[in-house]
Amino acid sequence: MRKLTRLPAMMLAIAIMLCSVPCVFAQHRLHNAEEEKIKSYPWMNSSLSPDERADLVLKELTLDEKIDLLHGNGMPGWGKPRPNAYLGNGGAGFVVGVPRLGIPIIQMSDAAYGVRSSAENGRYSTALPSNLASAASWDPQAACEYGALIGRELRAQGYNMTLGGGTNITREPRNGRTFEYMGEDPILAGTLVGNRIKCEQAQHVIGDIKHYAVNDQESGRNEVDSIIGKRALRESDLLAFEIGVAIGNPGAVMCSYNAVNGTFACENKYLLTDVLKDEWKYKGFVLSDWGGTHSTVKASAAGLDNEEPMDDFFGDKLKQAVQAGQVPLSEIDDHARRILRSEFASGIVDSPNGKAVVDVEGGFDTARRIAEQSTVLLKNEHALLPLDPARVKSIAIIGTHADTGMISGGGSAQVDPPGPPHHWQEHVWFPTSPLKAVAAKAPGAKVQFDSGENPASAAALAKNSDVAIVFAHQWQSEGMDLPNLSLPDNQDALIDQVAAANPRTIVVLETGTAVTMPWIDKVSGILEAWYAGSKGADAVANIVFGDVNPSAKLPMTFPRSVDDLPHPKLVTPPPGAQGRLAVMRTGEAKPTFSVNYDEGLKVGYKWYDAENKPVLFPFGYGLSYTTYRYSGLQVTPEGGASVSFDVKNTGARAGAEIAQVYVALPASTGEPPKRLVGWSKVQLNPGESKRVEVKIDPKYLSIFDETANAWKLVPGSYTFMVGGSSQNLPLSHKAELK
Ligand code: BGC
Repeated sequence: MRKLTRLPAMMLAIAIMLCSVPCVFAQHRLHNAEEEKIKSYPWMNSSLSPDERADLVLKELTLDEKIDLLHGNGMPGWGKPRPNAYLGNGGAGFVVGVPRLGIPIIQMSDAAYGVRSSAENGRYSTALPSNLASAASWDPQAACEYGALIGRELRAQGYNMTLGGGTNITREPRNGRTFEYMGEDPILAGTLVGNRIKCEQAQHVIGDIKHYAVNDQESGRNEVDSIIGKRALRESDLLAFEIGVAIGNPGAVMCSYNAVNGTFACENKYLLTDVLKDEWKYKGFVLSDWGGTHSTVKASAAGLDNEEPMDDFFGDKLKQAVQAGQVPLSEIDDHARRILRSEFASGIVDSPNGKAVVDVEGGFDTARRIAEQSTVLLKNEHALLPLDPARVKSIAIIGTHADTGMISGGGSAQVDPPGPPHHWQEHVWFPTSPLKAVAAKAPGAKVQFDSGENPASAAALAKNSDVAIVFAHQWQSEGMDLPNLSLPDNQDALIDQVAAANPRTIVVLETGTAVTMPWIDKVSGILEAWYAGSKGADAVANIVFGDVNPSAKLPMTFPRSVDDLPHPKLVTPPPGAQGRLAVMRTGEAKPTFSVNYDEGLKVGYKWYDAENKPVLFPFGYGLSYTTYRYSGLQVTPEGGASVSFDVKNTGARAGAEIAQVYVALPASTGEPPKRLVGWSKVQLNPGESKRVEVKIDPKYLSIFDETANAWKLVPGSYTFMVGGSSQNLPLSHKAELK
């Protein structure tokens, strides 16, 4: 019996052995043949333009294949997994490709300050300083390194598209996602995000800019209507996107959850077609924020190209709408062509495989360098900083977690530190220990820690130390706004008591946005370190001990009080205004409440300037361990303007000054008192002087003329102002512009 049963098995084994070599070979041949065939397709000719290549593919596609490009296929944890969920890479979503034609799957991952979901997927990602922090460097080159690192780590982890690129300007500093954005000025934000995207895409990932547009608060983000005048919209929130798109040329634009002037952003023809695609000549695709699609025919006609993360509106319903003649095939072709074009333009068709081991050490190095360039020195009484390690005998390190780590920003931006996954909106501390980093810099000093939970014990330690450093934090996340701008958890009282015990107190802020500082006059030093990333503590220690001379400047105003904000009271959804039922009450998706951005053009410093409200720290502010002097301003008004001036390092240390150029437009324009129009980061040795030239784009001197629906440079007298912050502008020059 046994022998009999064994016989067929043996025969099968022999057959497999005999066949294995040629069979495997045959399989290879088949595979290679398939690959060869794909390579021979005309659209695989990389000397053709992405448009030509996309057009060639489009001609081959069936309607089903086209529709398949226009929607996602679910996200882990988002409803029931679809049968093809196994094709995903563990990211926020994927779009099936067209394998028979060599068009790869688009694997998307959130990647605001690093690649998301590494814990769930058993991978590793570097956490860079927050996006807002990186904006404090004012440095397009740093933005480029930021993007390149994220691009490399995305590819290494099997992704070929980022969902980063947050660009919503800081109209409402309590917005829980302020840390994901680039501050309050459209020219600064747009320039930096554009450079980030450019270098991210150079790594062969499809870049993204989001959330288009006016998604300036999280409270009721799915139901809120952002009401804003057209001119204000174009000159503020949209200008940041316009510049980001022009510089970065992202393959994708993510439309936002909210409505703008009555119509949800993902079905808003003015935003998606009139401005983005027609006026800005944007050639990539628009994808909806997750669950931000509300219709089929309307959204498709408005210019939405891809629904994420599912196919509630852009799957069968879209196909039926085409068959019923409600959506023209030309519209479907346009959507599909844009997606294919971005695949070609980003290089993911030509370089489909990028998996690799993440360069952990290289990532640490980049994260530390960017944090060093992003940490803003806000106060330095009696030049307490930098500390001299040879002279300081004892240091008190105070603050919850200051012994073990630094806080990070939450939500879909969250990057995972080593260890198991965290829950949504859990406070996540990166294992970069301020205590250890400071102790390593001052081996001769007694460095002691107190968590600060009991302010009296922290104050006692401070009293017995030469210097006290308090690490204070304010946590932020997607999906919530801050109730105010105060440090939470009794930290103001802690700082008060510590400073009373030892005025040689330095506060290191780990915050996602501005904070108020009732203790400001009592402490000697303040450093704004933001969410400082994987190597934040080393960066802070390098600044505290003077290995690095701080150069960063605030990309947003720090107000004295929330009472000074354009909307002192945060606008929150009224009862019954939230949820799908509320939105669908009339049968058609409609926002349920509104935020009226009636401050219009007056965003950030433009508001405080216009309203004559004193601030705690102005936009563009930041100290250094050296000093700079400005002189010799010249303005040549041609092709916009060319502004040149001298900056001299008048102190004893080498440093980098972010020299800023602002302009006051003619009074007839009705603009706020001044706007940033350019800047240059100048490296200077002690005593060294450099002539700096800043070229100003004519658009940055223009206003948006609603009647003409165009940018217009209003002839008249323009005052150019130059200096080290929006409120310290020693040079000024009037020029007539025609
Ligand atoms: C966020 C987006 C994010 C998406 C995917 C949404 O809730 O608003 O920024 O990219 O989820 O995770």
